Amino acid sequence: MPSVFILNGVNLGTLGTRRLEVYGNMTLGDIERVVGEAFPDLDLNFSQTDFEGEMVGFIRDAADSDGLVINAGAWTHYSYALHDALEALDVPKVEVHISNVHRREEWRRLSVISPAVNAVIAGMGVHGYVAAVRYVIEGLHGQTQG
Ligand code: DQA
Repeated sequence: MPSVFILNGVNLGTLGTRRLEVYGNMTLGDIERVVGEAFPDLDLNFSQTDFEGEMVGFIRDAADSDGLVINAGAWTHYSYALHDALEALDVPKVEVHISNVHRREEWRRLSVISPAVNAVIAGMGVHGYVAAVRYVIEGLHGQTQG
């Protein structure tokens, strides 16, 4: 059974109570359920952490998987450690953001992890996770520059 890692970083455990007008009212558990129902034949490894070093470990653990989807939260904007961990990982990788980071504060427009992934999705809410899993699992990354 193909496996995909879906990793969520700092503060994403508070989804469902935090900035509802920006992130919607789904909890991370709701997102996990929706993605799981969309891909019943996949082994989905869904994790969240508020600790950067633990996230680096999760990224390394994905080495034997078929793909990785990551919402790094605020780490997106400044963590070279996550960039380097992702760069070293040789599986299809997608960066996901629930909100459209480009229509928010200026500092959210910079992602230091984007150069280390194949594709980036922002602003599609839970659908971004579903689209990202489909992308890695259907081998779509081979069809584009990413
Ligand atoms: C986020 C966007 C980030 O800027 C923010 O720090 C988050 C969530 C998103 O999913 O829209 O924590 O990654």
